Amino acid sequence: MVVEKSADFEVPEAQIAVHWREEEYIYPPSKFIAQANAGDPAIMKRFSESNYPECFKEYADLLTWDHYWHTTLDTSNPPFWKWFVGGRLNASYNCVDRHLAKNRNKAALIWVPEIETEATQVITYQELHRRVNEFAALLSDFAGLKAGDRVTFHLPMVPELPVAMLAAARLGIIHSEVFGGFSGNAAGERIADASSHVLVTIDSYYRNGQLLDHKAKADEAVLRAHDLGFDVEKVLVFQRHAGSYGSQTPMVAGRDFFVDEVIKPYRDQLVEPVSMPAESPLFLMYTSGSTGKPKGCQHSTGGYLSYVAGTSKFYQDIHPEDTYWCMADIGWITGHSYIVYGPLALGATSVMYEGVPTYPDAGRTWRIAERLGVNIFHTAPTTIRMLRKLGPDEPAKYDYHFKHMTTVGEPIEPDVWRWYYNVVGKGEAAIVDTWWQTENGGFLGSTLPGLQPMKPGSCGPGVLGVFPVVYDEDGKVVPAGSGRAGNICIRNPWPGIFQTIWGEPERFVKTYYEKYNRDPNSHDWRDWPYFAGDGAVQASDGYFRILGRVDDVINVAGHRLGTKELESACLTLPEVAEAAAVPVIDELRGRAVEMYIALKTGFTASAEMEEKVALAIETEIGRIARPKNVWIVADMPKTRSGKIMRRIIASISNFADVGDITTLANPEIVHDIRMHVQGEKVAKGDVPRELTNSELEEIKSFGAES
Ligand code: PRX
Repeated sequence: MVVEKSADFEVPEAQIAVHWREEEYIYPPSKFIAQANAGDPAIMKRFSESNYPECFKEYADLLTWDHYWHTTLDTSNPPFWKWFVGGRLNASYNCVDRHLAKNRNKAALIWVPEIETEATQVITYQELHRRVNEFAALLSDFAGLKAGDRVTFHLPMVPELPVAMLAAARLGIIHSEVFGGFSGNAAGERIADASSHVLVTIDSYYRNGQLLDHKAKADEAVLRAHDLGFDVEKVLVFQRHAGSYGSQTPMVAGRDFFVDEVIKPYRDQLVEPVSMPAESPLFLMYTSGSTGKPKGCQHSTGGYLSYVAGTSKFYQDIHPEDTYWCMADIGWITGHSYIVYGPLALGATSVMYEGVPTYPDAGRTWRIAERLGVNIFHTAPTTIRMLRKLGPDEPAKYDYHFKHMTTVGEPIEPDVWRWYYNVVGKGEAAIVDTWWQTENGGFLGSTLPGLQPMKPGSCGPGVLGVFPVVYDEDGKVVPAGSGRAGNICIRNPWPGIFQTIWGEPERFVKTYYEKYNRDPNSHDWRDWPYFAGDGAVQASDGYFRILGRVDDVINVAGHRLGTKELESACLTLPEVAEAAAVPVIDELRGRAVEMYIALKTGFTASAEMEEKVALAIETEIGRIARPKNVWIVADMPKTRSGKIMRRIIASISNFADVGDITTLANPEIVHDIRMHVQGEKVAKGDVPRELTNSELEEIKSFGAES
């Protein structure tokens, strides 16, 4: 990826100096240190660069292999790394069967429905084994799927989701879960991209006290996939309430089947786990990038599972007796790695919650923690901000005690971090701020909780066996302690790294490796740094502070939204001539999206048109992408070559200085847009707080990457 150094943008991200107050270290409580899985500093030595890549044997040895592997890392076809080559294993066996001998009746999953009067489901390893086997039998026999086929799930936070994932994994079927909050169209596109003939969905689920009709989305998904030239053969429909159908849409004869009915012949059937090569794909997880099309990140079986097991042990500090609760959604990578695969590979008890953390009131999260005896808690800054806003004093009212807490998904402000530490953690818990991405399988940057002090707002150094570096635009190392930002990269492959973008190997190489590759013919991993797409600064102690994306991706509440995806959604409307998405700083969600729209001649701005644009985004992507504001403007500020200057409208939305506009083709439009947008915002009381230096830099350089 090459940065366009046009006259409009002369200061590349990598050369921006970022100033902030260095935070003090906070040391983990001694009680935590005494029991930490990684309590012995010798672990740092075992995972030092001189022991790389063999150090990862320690992670792989947490698993049960059918055939042990012979080569730790095969670099013969860079950057398509292969881990634990020659090894064979089954992910479902590792997460379920192997725990039966000792922990048959231990809770594997505890599912908490959103409606508080509904019963919590405790699913033991024995029960999970039974459910996974039955669903695997159905996938194989009724749905006709076999190893290497893809199956798409469009499921919310219900226990059927991990059951379905583990059932697919049992047969070597590659699962592709689409976040339940995504629209039917978004699911349809992912179905077509992965060529999944089978879609697994549910009739309905609860969100904020409402039973949402989810099956309707399956019909849209099938239609969209069909429009893209791909036909879904079977839709398997779970039911949120056994025996009743919670959707308004009819079941389509010959295509739609209630799981409860078609699973009957498979009751109590056992399905042998298929022994899969370590490098066979386990699942796809789609994420947004700089172009319109979502990327299907393909994760491996052996490398991925080893990595999530190892990081769950040492960074989540999961012990067999812990009750672990990650509040992420399994529809995102965090849920795959740190609700399902990591904790279950370790035989832990993993809690799942169906709904909104503050439903029906701001104490809900802490009531669940108290009632279930949760002692490890994992969530995102956006949720922490929301919990603080709605119930700053709630945690103190409940008798729970966390030994460990995680934050993930976006930068956390030191002030929010301190509330998390003091109020949620009651000063008793070690916190890890884990930096990583859908592409990475597991953590990349974090403190090792028993051995390294915490620093609010910084994720910490690279994790065990992962060696990050900050490069400037020319590939020169930006030294630690220089105060300068650059592009954070990882110098070496690690077992959790995704294998490719499904069906797009060239895009994979171009997006993640081309920028800093030293020699395309080299088979030495040292010549292939991984480009993460985040700006970062490294302090003199080696800790990284992540600043955010350097590409056209907006991180809303920890979820990546591509500007191109948002813009193409708007362009589905016949009235829209041009669309531009920009981020605005948002107190709760970190960033929110604002859309700027220019209409075709003959159409006029109206509140209805604004709503139509917002709805188009909900229909194409999902409610999470709904813009905070839609601004219909007479024209976009453009360069003389016709490029929309997103950084200028982003500055207007955020009340930042628009900078030099004299080189624009239409500088006069900037004044008009500012009057319109800022005038309305002031009237609504929607004026942001003063931005920090790094936020200002982010806004001022937005859209700079081509
Ligand atoms: O910008 C970084 C931000 O989230 C992006 C990855 O998003 P996604 O693939 O959806 O995965 C989120 C959960 C793994 C990154 O490129 N990000 C993630 N974690 C952090 C973060 N930014 C700052 N601090 C973090 N701890």
